[in-house]
Amino acid sequence: MLVDKLHSALPNLNINEHWPLSKLCTLRAGGEAEVFVAPDTIEDTKIIFTLAITEGYPVYVLGGGSNLLFPDGLIHGIVISTLRLNTISWRNDITTDIDAGFMLPVLMRQVRERGLGGMEFAAGIPGTLGGALAGNAGAGGHGVCDLVDNVVSIEANGEIKTWHSNEINYSYRKCSLANEKRVIVLARLTFRQANPKDKDVYESFMLRRGSQPHAFGNAGCTFKNPEGYSAGKLLDEAGCKNLRVGDAVVSDQHANFILNHGNATSSDIMKLINLCAERVYENTGIKLEPEIKIIGPVFCVS
Ligand code: EPU
Repeated sequence: MLVDKLHSALPNLNINEHWPLSKLCTLRAGGEAEVFVAPDTIEDTKIIFTLAITEGYPVYVLGGGSNLLFPDGLIHGIVISTLRLNTISWRNDITTDIDAGFMLPVLMRQVRERGLGGMEFAAGIPGTLGGALAGNAGAGGHGVCDLVDNVVSIEANGEIKTWHSNEINYSYRKCSLANEKRVIVLARLTFRQANPKDKDVYESFMLRRGSQPHAFGNAGCTFKNPEGYSAGKLLDEAGCKNLRVGDAVVSDQHANFILNHGNATSSDIMKLINLCAERVYENTGIKLEPEIKIIGPVFCVS
């Protein structure tokens, strides 16, 4: 049993069984992790990850939970939270090593306080650096991966591997390192000295973020923007605003946001995601792809 092996390998590790993931995901939905741990060090993370793989357990890595939807019910496997891997160490004026669990908004504050620029596009983006790297989070044609010098990961065989930026392929909301057989644990990012335009760019991104819904549990944009289109606009034009399944409701402020009005289950949210995608498909022939990372059965428009 994985739990027994974890106990003997790491006697001080807090191991939680049947842990509710809805409390850790901003959509406030999802079932229980069979095993849940939040290691304090990269070394412990490596031991946990490799043990889980050897024991044949599915592994899910959870950062800030701001772009994730777990299924309802008991989720077989282990969920590893990176939230306790949260140190930052500046190597010089512009370059820093940051653990995967470090929060992006905190990084943004430090960067601005140090008179640096280059990450204005990330204004208002929640979550951890690791999550942001895995999904190349961003806006306005820029993504977090643009800032990377290198990324350190734990591979399934326990190797700690450093990936230089030229070995990483990334594009809109995609990063070649994102893979269930790997945990991203650290990254080295380089910024540049701020210039006078940065403040305006930062504020314009903040303003757009400010116009998005904040009141209920949500996971940011539900769908990616198809090339040349805005998913929000397509959903709006297909009449998706205020569509509802249970307590899952499409925002009337921005049609690409699904809100949990209280007790929405993952299944309600999934049904609503499918319904929205079908509406847009019927209206335009465009197949939207979810931006939210959906764990479990792969989503598709029929
Ligand atoms: N629009 C509508 N109806 C709506 C929503 C939007 O007509 O219900 C129109 C807007 O008026 C605007 C256009 O669609 O003309 C684009 O909307 P918006 O400015 O809100 O930007 P977006 O393309 O929907 C992207 C990112 C956001 C990021 C914003 C601002 C994606 C899928 N979304 O949104 O990221 O916050 O730019 O920088 O790339 C996220 O990653 O979770 C996210 C929300």
